[in-house]
Amino acid sequence: MRILVTGARGLLGSEVVRAAAARGHNTVPLGHDDLDVTDAERVLAAVTAESPDRIVHCAAYTAVDGAEAEPDVASRVNRDGTRNVARAAAASASGMVYVSTDFVFDGLEHAPYLPDHPVAPLSVYGRTKRDGEEAVLEVAAQGAHGAFRPLIVRTGWLYGAEGRNFVDAMVERAARGEALRVVDDQTGGPTWARNVADILVELMEREVDGIWHVADRGEATWLELARTAVRLSGLEANVGGVSTAEWGAPAPRPPYSVLDVTRTERLLGRRMEPWPEALARFLGTEGEERRER
Ligand SMILES: NC(=O)c1ccc[n+]([C@@H]2O[C@H](COP(=O)([O-])OP(=O)(O)OC[C@H]3O[C@@H](n4cnc5c(N)ncnc54)[C@H](OP(=O)(O)O)[C@@H]3O)[C@@H](O)[C@H]2O)c1
Repeated sequence: MRILVTGARGLLGSEVVRAAAARGHNTVPLGHDDLDVTDAERVLAAVTAESPDRIVHCAAYTAVDGAEAEPDVASRVNRDGTRNVARAAAASASGMVYVSTDFVFDGLEHAPYLPDHPVAPLSVYGRTKRDGEEAVLEVAAQGAHGAFRPLIVRTGWLYGAEGRNFVDAMVERAARGEALRVVDDQTGGPTWARNVADILVELMEREVDGIWHVADRGEATWLELARTAVRLSGLEANVGGVSTAEWGAPAPRPPYSVLDVTRTERLLGRRMEPWPEALARFLGTEGEERRER
């Protein structure tokens, strides 16, 4: 397949490009500088020129706290930009994958969220990502473009090689001997972006559409994730808990946002990797890659 990736230099986009190439697909990686998804004309021109079989739309405004201060910017990218990509995909008979988030849920449940659970985002970021989902589904429902059957993949709590992420930040600070204070009353599903990318490509190959949850298995608080990352890195640090209220971040976050991945597991015929195992592989692989450089 010929696969165009937006946001191709981001945390997940870079892994999607790697995963698609590793499985023998022809990739068209477009970073922010190559294609600004808020420019509808340029999006249509790029998609028409490249004529991909699939577009994996990873470009997004992802600063959860920043979105509270600039909701219009977040909306322009996450809602309008996504609509631009969906319209261009439909017009050129390309398939589309939209990457969405656990933050579309309010987090008031105490069991993992199924894909058809009602969404109720708490934050501006979550609302704009929900709006992106709706924009994709609206383009699909318009019918004028016939068989545009998009795939929406929700994931959450990603870490990986590209860009800043929570795991690297914790390990770096522990290595500097700093004491860490980490939120202990939010629970999610820590997930290696590489695992999401591999499964996302597999779902495209199987021509799956609709809404699917893709995440590593199990759940943890940010405190548990930080402690595990520090321990697996062979470091010792004073890692203490702090409540969401004490931490005082600008954006509200769901207290519990674990995604139920059982439907995806049934489809694939295998279980997702448990998060501590994925994290150990990430830290091992990354350590080796760093030593080689
Ligand atoms: N990280 C997570 O924990 C997480 C969890 C759930 C879902 N997701 C979703 O996963 C997807 C990928 O996110 P990520 O974690 O890979 O974030 P990321 O590293 O911030 O990547 C997003 C990329 O989009 C680019 N971008 C921003 N505005 C753009 C625009 N107007 N046009 C084109 N590109 C633009 C960014 O480029 P610049 O940096 O140059 O602006 C960045 O390279 C997003 O849809 C996100 O909502 C992420």
